[in-house]
Amino acid sequence: MTEVTIAVAKGRLQAETLDLLTRAAIIFSSEALSSRRLSIQDESGRFRLIFVKPADVPVYVEHGIADCGIVGRDVLLESEPDLLQPLSLNIGACRIVVAARNDAPESQLGMLKVATKYPRIAARHFGARGIAVDLIELAGSVELASVLGLADCIVDLVETGKTLQDNGLTIIEVIADSAARLVVNRASYQLKAHVVGRFMRSLNEAQQRGE
Ligand code: PRP
Repeated sequence: MTEVTIAVAKGRLQAETLDLLTRAAIIFSSEALSSRRLSIQDESGRFRLIFVKPADVPVYVEHGIADCGIVGRDVLLESEPDLLQPLSLNIGACRIVVAARNDAPESQLGMLKVATKYPRIAARHFGARGIAVDLIELAGSVELASVLGLADCIVDLVETGKTLQDNGLTIIEVIADSAARLVVNRASYQLKAHVVGRFMRSLNEAQQRGE
């Protein structure tokens, strides 16, 4: 019987998350992993993984469909979900930055146009500095907005820096460091304290062994 359901962010974090779970002795068959199933059971039958878009991880956990989730801090800073965040994980390290074209003019007249997938992080960042911004929300390939003049600058994730570099952009300011976090539903944390606690300990031990 499933004891713990874990929402896993699809995409760039997925491989590192599965690797961490394997090191925590939560094993999935290669048949399950190579399938397109969005919900799979581990070999012990105690853990179920669901694969969702990063921004949807907190949604599933907040609603209690998943007990736990593994998701980037960037997503949590953007959506500010009502969840417990008991464990910082040493996977998915990146930075949230303001970036602009290498040849961008020093100062602009009028409202600064900012393109981003993170409108709340961007609004908070510029709001705290008293800078009025016109936010342009995009779903991806945000760097292009700066390259093609849709925006004066972008707020986006940087991992290796290659996307910025290859598109002629440069970091103006680092807003925050990000890495993956374990998030836990408040009710599950209480009602499933034993199994969730054991899962947290095994994740923690796995990542300490991996350091
Ligand atoms: C992210 C981010 C940058 C890129 C940074 O996008 O928004 O575009 O990765 O990575 P790098 O510093 O290693 O080059 P993602 O690949 O998630 O796709 P998206 O553009 O569709 O959001």
